[in-house]
Amino acid sequence: MREITFERKNIRVLVGKTAEECAEFAAAFVTAQMAGQKAFKLGLATGSTPVLLYRELIKKNQAGEIDFSGVNTYNLDEYYPIDPKDAQSFREFMEENLFRHVNLPPENIHIPCGNAPDGKEEAKRYEKELCDIGGVDLQVLGIGSDGHVGFNEPDSIFPYETHTTALTEQTIRDNSRFFESEDQVPRNAITMGCGAIMRAKKCILIATGKNKAQAIHDAILADPAPSCQASVLQFHQDTVFVLDEDAASLL
Ligand code: F6R
Repeated sequence: MREITFERKNIRVLVGKTAEECAEFAAAFVTAQMAGQKAFKLGLATGSTPVLLYRELIKKNQAGEIDFSGVNTYNLDEYYPIDPKDAQSFREFMEENLFRHVNLPPENIHIPCGNAPDGKEEAKRYEKELCDIGGVDLQVLGIGSDGHVGFNEPDSIFPYETHTTALTEQTIRDNSRFFESEDQVPRNAITMGCGAIMRAKKCILIATGKNKAQAIHDAILADPAPSCQASVLQFHQDTVFVLDEDAASLL
């Protein structure tokens, strides 16, 4: 991995040649943070990008190199409304790509409930849970091609609390690849706000592919602005960006 440094910016950027190299680095990073911790709080993201990381974590768990028995996980977001058992829900995505394959106790899984009767109440409940723990130890993040983190979409503010939100046309288009058609993409989601993300002790944001290059440029080099929500991380105490050459191509 090669490191890029920026004068007067409190951000670490590591660039790998391939998405696989990034995933291996990220898995080693997560493992190192979890090592020796009895009650680790791990924030997780869904989407295509972390799948390779989760694959590495599963291998490490099966090899006895990493232990999830005392870990509590907190996912960034969930579509709303959606049945948690629906194949397209983020809950099911996590089961498929990580939870089912590691020794994580099911009661330690925390994620907004996609079929709660009232989305706003569910957002409040999740926010309280996140406030009560006082911030995760490590938050895994991806980034949208429009700069979103979680489902905090481009806005005139950085939303602070967990909230319900309408997905932008861009995100609906980007996420339609997981559905049979664009019409089937849920139009709303419940997402952690920037407050809970900023309370994480550490963040690791992974981005791969040319379609993330502009968002990564805006997140790291532009003045922080809610038109690129990931730029809030310029104010975070300890964030590392793990990028492949394509995602880093505009830095
Ligand atoms: C998912 C999430 C999103 C994704 C982002 C990138 O929980 O919070 O912010 O990280 O949309 O998704 P991929 O990795 O599919 O490009």
